[in-house]
Amino acid sequence: MQSVSEMNAQGLIDTARALVAGDKGLLAMDESNPTCNKRFAMVGIPQTEEARRAYRELIVTTPGLGECISGVILYDETIRQRKKDGTPFIKVIIDAGIIPGIKVDTGAKNLAGHPGEKITEGLDGLRERLAEYFQIGARFAKWRAVIAVGAGIPSRGCIEANAQALARYAALCQEAGLVPIVEPEVLMDGEHTLNRCGEVTEDVLRTVFGQLFIQRVALEGMILKPNMVLPGLTCPKQEGVDEVADATVKCLLRAVPAAVPGIAFLSGGQSGELASARLNAMNVRFKSRRPWALAFSFARAIQQPALEIWHGREATVPAAQQALYHRARCNGAARRGEYNAAMERTWA
Ligand code: G3H
Repeated sequence: MQSVSEMNAQGLIDTARALVAGDKGLLAMDESNPTCNKRFAMVGIPQTEEARRAYRELIVTTPGLGECISGVILYDETIRQRKKDGTPFIKVIIDAGIIPGIKVDTGAKNLAGHPGEKITEGLDGLRERLAEYFQIGARFAKWRAVIAVGAGIPSRGCIEANAQALARYAALCQEAGLVPIVEPEVLMDGEHTLNRCGEVTEDVLRTVFGQLFIQRVALEGMILKPNMVLPGLTCPKQEGVDEVADATVKCLLRAVPAAVPGIAFLSGGQSGELASARLNAMNVRFKSRRPWALAFSFARAIQQPALEIWHGREATVPAAQQALYHRARCNGAARRGEYNAAMERTWA
């Protein structure tokens, strides 16, 4: 008998390919309410449901967004929200030619017996939640595992537990007809070196792909959302853009099977300009030496300037939308290997 994932396979492959087609990438706007409130608080915006709705309306109605953005990742609150005029966000997104997706993990909690390490939760009841999200209109889903680097960590226990959860989530997504965005994030916090980040990232990715195989996940119908290989934020040696690009793609070439259609990086706290420059360098330097698309799935590296300009005020919506569109365009250019610093001076 044909398995559910075999029946869904072509649809999953088509969606996964569409998410990384051309020079487009993903916009992550799936901050949980506490995370969104934290970002609002940092720039002095009131932390209310209406402010979150208004901000997300600003994002999804940005003129031209679909030129550079293939898919947006929503949060449970957001996928059910509407524009002020009553139009559901999901309709606005689809009408803009963008594929709606949804964050489905329920957050990273302390991992028992492993001080300083986290395990991402959310598998209980996931099958039912995925069915509802599909019915609302989502066609892909995201799950983020976080791996901290430090003295004696990450542990085997943390890597294995998170990889297994990612694989179980991915299999459930494919069963439900949703493309899994598999996100194992090695954090930037700490003073570890670029090499150490590369070693940890390779170990994590090898373990994740081992578990994806065990759980029978079809690699052609998924997207990987990894960190770039970077020195820790407080590491005294901060390598340049080309060294980061080389370390990242070399690590991925060792650990990510060619059957995966696309790799869409998270930004992880990098500035918008640096994230674009590093993605650009990867696409320039490995133009004909990589089997997958190298794309983006940024939240902060696309949204931050817009959030700061908006500041909760109606009058600043057009300027904030311009800033958002600009960052999306820069990343589209980075996918083509055509991003340069001059782009940052010529948009306003
Ligand atoms: O899970 C994390 C987000 O989807 C990506 O956010 O680009 O700000 O790291 P970031």
